[in-house]
Amino acid sequence: MAGKETHLSLGDWLQSMRMWKFETLGDFARVTRWLDVCRKKDKTVKAMSTYFRNMHSVLRDCTTQYEEKVIALDAATKPVLTSMDMPALSGMQLSTGENLISSFHKKAAEMREWFDGLWKKPADEFLNTWSETVDDSEKYFNLMNRLVRDFANFEVLIICLPGTGSAITNKPVQQCLEDMFWLNMRMIRMLDLIRTVRQSWRSNRRSWGFLNPTTDLRDMIVTLFQEYIEEADPIRIAAKQAKALSTGRSYSKYRFWRAAESFRQMAGVDYGSGQDRTPRMTRNYIKTDLQSVPAVVTDFQRLDWAIKEIVNNALAATCVIRFEQQGLMAEPLARHMGASSASAVKISLVAREGAGDKKTLRLTVTDGGHGIPRDHLYSTYLWGYSPRRAELQAQFLESHAKKSVKKNAVLIGGKGIGMPFARAVFREHGGDLTIADSSDVGTTIIMDIPAPSAVPQLKLIS
Ligand SMILES: Nc1ncnc2c1ncn2[C@@H]1O[C@H](COP(=O)(O)OP(=O)(O)OP(=O)(O)O)[C@@H](O)[C@H]1O
Ligand SMILES: [Mg+2]
Repeated sequence: MAGKETHLSLGDWLQSMRMWKFETLGDFARVTRWLDVCRKKDKTVKAMSTYFRNMHSVLRDCTTQYEEKVIALDAATKPVLTSMDMPALSGMQLSTGENLISSFHKKAAEMREWFDGLWKKPADEFLNTWSETVDDSEKYFNLMNRLVRDFANFEVLIICLPGTGSAITNKPVQQCLEDMFWLNMRMIRMLDLIRTVRQSWRSNRRSWGFLNPTTDLRDMIVTLFQEYIEEADPIRIAAKQAKALSTGRSYSKYRFWRAAESFRQMAGVDYGSGQDRTPRMTRNYIKTDLQSVPAVVTDFQRLDWAIKEIVNNALAATCVIRFEQQGLMAEPLARHMGASSASAVKISLVAREGAGDKKTLRLTVTDGGHGIPRDHLYSTYLWGYSPRRAELQAQFLESHAKKSVKKNAVLIGGKGIGMPFARAVFREHGGDLTIADSSDVGTTIIMDIPAPSAVPQLKLIS
């Protein structure tokens, strides 16, 4: 509704950010305009104070809520998480006599104490401390690190620990993990917003914050396959390894190496030879049908990651992976063998019209893989649910027996994080992810993102 005036106070704005849906980009634009007006009226210090105080109380509130969730989680999973064997099993370095939960409570208490101490300071000191923290990269990253390391990923960590499997698949526990995920997101983004807005004040520029206002989804998909091809290039990998060796630095594998490597083999990527190597796919393993669609506002990195998780799953479902001495060997399912076979994975992108000026961008990933059994459909959305894990563990034992295969070659993946993470990211963008269909001949995943509508004009209330 372009041109319509909206009355919004900072408190309203913060309220509207509760779920961090991406409609809030409009709200973020409003707050930066609000700050601009304050600057013109020479009320910046007061505005900054209000802003930081508001953000601060949300952050503090998050740590409290997060701690409450951990207590609930602890009660629901007992005695798994409080087991004294847990620190050793998880490879975590905790003080003697501490377990995962008690160490979490300790960290949460420290954090809250820090927030409370700050809150009690007089207005100018409060503002100064915050400004210093976010202006100094080291201090900022320390704080971010504490939030991320001690709080965020706790729910992901639990899933990865041995022995938590059956304890986490019940509904209350899943709800807890979901809530913790959202709280993490809010904490990290609040901090990110504080820093971004502060930077925009300092540089006297309007800022769009951590959001990338123009993501071209079509481009994102095309780039994804280019990235796989590049990252799986044996010559490039060898060069990187040689460089690591000569500089004494460790060689870190590409995060989605399993997908990239199986893609390279299944699509029969030929890198060409000579100076001018131009990679091309010799098999029609993945087919894309990507329309040009309007650019959308996204959290680029997380969305990119989410899409990769879904493509990962599609690739894994359409092939059989073995670990041999020479590395990962991916072989398409029998029905995808042969030069003339239809594509094993199809990806389409379309813009769908909705009511009013509402458009939705729909990304569909269809694979001809082994499918998800009907009675497992709901569980697939849950954090930590992974039938693939058992499969990978069997491969691990088998390859371990062969000694020559590196252990960590197999142990990556199979955590049951891909699907719930991708779903959370699409929901966070105001859209959704659903398993539209699955049978023993394949699976269709639908991912929707609303296209942006015009941002309303702001009229400030003093
Ligand atoms: N396209 C698909 N076809 C068949 N099964 C699928 C597909 N996508 C997901 N699944 C099933 O759902 C389970 C959960 O998927 P999810 O991505 O959450 O975890 P994962 O792939 O097992 O592990 P991770 O993604 O953490 O490495 C998988 O183990 C697999 O059994
Ligand atoms: Mg997965």
